[in-house]
Amino acid sequence: MAEVVIVRDQAEAGAIVADEIARIVRLDPRVVLGLATGSTPLPVYEALRARLTGVDVSQLRGFALDEYVGIDPAHPESYRAVIAREVVEPLGLDPARVRVPDGSLAGIEHAGEDYERAIVEAGGVDLQILGIGTDGHIGFNEPGSSFASLTRVKTLTEQTREDNARFFDSVHDVPRHCITQGLGTIMRARHIVLLAFGAGKAEAVAGAVEGPVTASLPGSAIQLHPHATVVVDESAASALAHADYYRYAFANKPEWQGL
Ligand code: GLP
Repeated sequence: MAEVVIVRDQAEAGAIVADEIARIVRLDPRVVLGLATGSTPLPVYEALRARLTGVDVSQLRGFALDEYVGIDPAHPESYRAVIAREVVEPLGLDPARVRVPDGSLAGIEHAGEDYERAIVEAGGVDLQILGIGTDGHIGFNEPGSSFASLTRVKTLTEQTREDNARFFDSVHDVPRHCITQGLGTIMRARHIVLLAFGAGKAEAVAGAVEGPVTASLPGSAIQLHPHATVVVDESAASALAHADYYRYAFANKPEWQGL
């Protein structure tokens, strides 16, 4: 099962995950990171700034999870723009080494395959950062997504469009389609770190960690992963049946195990 780490607040979550990323980058500057968008991973990127200062990041590679289809890449809420603004620029990464799925309409039929090939050629993702949607989606893999799926075009649920409307002028401006790494793609990462904050995520987190493994709750795929870590605040942990055990296990975790 996933290891669950219950933290006080977002800052503590960011610090724990950023410590681990900085540790693996120091060990191997060619690390490949899987980058999530949305508001959840922001504390990680924020905490990474200080930790990567003075660390050689020139060879670090990154692959974003997903992108809206048909959005102008220059739109401030395209995931290409978000990754540039929140990750590439503040961390001083080489923009040529950080990829986002290509959501432009020209060539969209091949964009998934191209992206899969690029991830394989980079040697695969070492650490994948994930958020989770209120309906349990990871990346943009909405309920019903195949556990074997690879990067492809998907249709967003109305719930996800409403959840993401806050980033746009109105829900009507949220694209209907996206291109997302599949659950199969995400599961190939060597270490998955899923973060969630707030009571709105409590049911999705409980389903992903303790519920049945089902395509109806795509986040539950992490139960099949050999190295998955779930970092949640108290509110997001509030529906977990075994929260006390997770606290006990983490408090007594041997230091050599790392995150
Ligand atoms: C978005 C993204 C996901 C993200 C999720 C939660 O739709 N495609 O990668 O994990 O929804 O977003 P947030 O972190 O803002 O709650």
